[in-house]
Amino acid sequence: MTKDPLPGVFQLTPLNPAFNDNPHLLLDRLRSECPVRRDDEAGTFLLTRYADVRGVVSDTTLWRDPAHAEDAAVIQKALIEQKLDGMTMPQEELGASILLLDDPDHARIRTPFAKALYKRVARARPLVQQIVDEWLDKVKGRARFDAMADFALRVPIDVIARMLGVDNGRLDEFRAWSEGAILGLDPFRGEEKTQIYIRSANALSDYMRQLMAERRRAPQDDLVSDMVGLVAEGAPLSDGEISNNLQGLLIGGNLTTTDLIGNAIWLLLSHPGELAKLRADPGLINSAVEEVLRYESPVDITSRIASRDMEVGACPIKRSQSLFASLRGANRDPAVFPEPHRFDIARKDAPHVAFGGGAHICIGAPLARMEAQVGILSFFQRFASVHLADAHAAPQWRSMPFFRGLKELLVEV
Ligand code: HEM
Repeated sequence: MTKDPLPGVFQLTPLNPAFNDNPHLLLDRLRSECPVRRDDEAGTFLLTRYADVRGVVSDTTLWRDPAHAEDAAVIQKALIEQKLDGMTMPQEELGASILLLDDPDHARIRTPFAKALYKRVARARPLVQQIVDEWLDKVKGRARFDAMADFALRVPIDVIARMLGVDNGRLDEFRAWSEGAILGLDPFRGEEKTQIYIRSANALSDYMRQLMAERRRAPQDDLVSDMVGLVAEGAPLSDGEISNNLQGLLIGGNLTTTDLIGNAIWLLLSHPGELAKLRADPGLINSAVEEVLRYESPVDITSRIASRDMEVGACPIKRSQSLFASLRGANRDPAVFPEPHRFDIARKDAPHVAFGGGAHICIGAPLARMEAQVGILSFFQRFASVHLADAHAAPQWRSMPFFRGLKELLVEV
């Protein structure tokens, strides 16, 4: 019997039903048969072994900017060549995201952003708790609700809106723009979604510039005021760079944190023994969140571009060739995680790569962790006998490529 060909990047998306059902059948096969696989269709190498993934994401000499990639690297090239007619923001703002820049621009922009964000996150726990409680209050009295739409989707957008300083009167619009702007991350979105994305991105950009102008005139206790304040003190950032990267906090942070919270609720409800452990010892919440990040990582893959001829896992890579690092694959590598397919909230020494690594390591990781710790603990404390509305139904995963989260999570309390 001939075996199925090994999957490439395009088969590692929810559009492939086999991946959607169980990504690990494909990722385990890749890791054991061809851990550094050349994928000619996507024009990239695909890495699934922990050591290779960790090595590549931590290597700060590699490139991220898609402009450095060879022409064969179609996913990176599509990012530069996509035609977004109707996008009104200036070119200098469009190309300013730290997600896609290399040094020196990456460090120049990321350093002041990280400084302002970390300072705010360090004192944001009461705000996060308040927002979590507000959304839990809203489902009070309901016997059944959707833990995604009614909770996990709500908390991250409201937290970032309040940290940025979005006016209360604009919150609904801001929520709608944030959801629309996330469509920019879907390389396979059709024309209709592209139009929603463009409209949302334009509206967000206009609103950010308006907020920046207002905070310059009258600073308040928020992140937009922090950023314009840092520029006034000499941080070398243009308005377009600030605007783009403030929006990047929404785009990089909302869906991913929603998925972390949703995946955690689903995993705990479908592993009653683990939930009982957490209820008996709430001090396990930190390791529980780390285990959800490892076991059901919200982000599948990150990428780098070879800045020199090099070797990865004894495989020769040429300068400008693309490297796709499977974070999901690395996080279940048995060489690092004993019994990798067991969900164990008390797991120790589990250095997962769900937030990537090196120069581009997720800037929002401390915020995401805090939102998940507060959100999950409060959810289970509020509902002592919460359970899945249908314990036998298969989970319904969303169809956004490279992200794994639930469309819906019906629970009864
Ligand atoms: C569970 C939630 C999250 C996950 C799993 C996640 C995952 C990631 C990953 C894998 C990367 C790429 C890292 C690399 O290539 O090495 C990244 C980058 C990034 N994330 Fe997150 N993220 C999350 C939450 C957030 C939040 C809450 C924010 C904002 C407040 C955020 C903002 C960003 C930004 C701006 C980058 C680009 C950083 C750079 O390139 O320098 N993320 N994230």
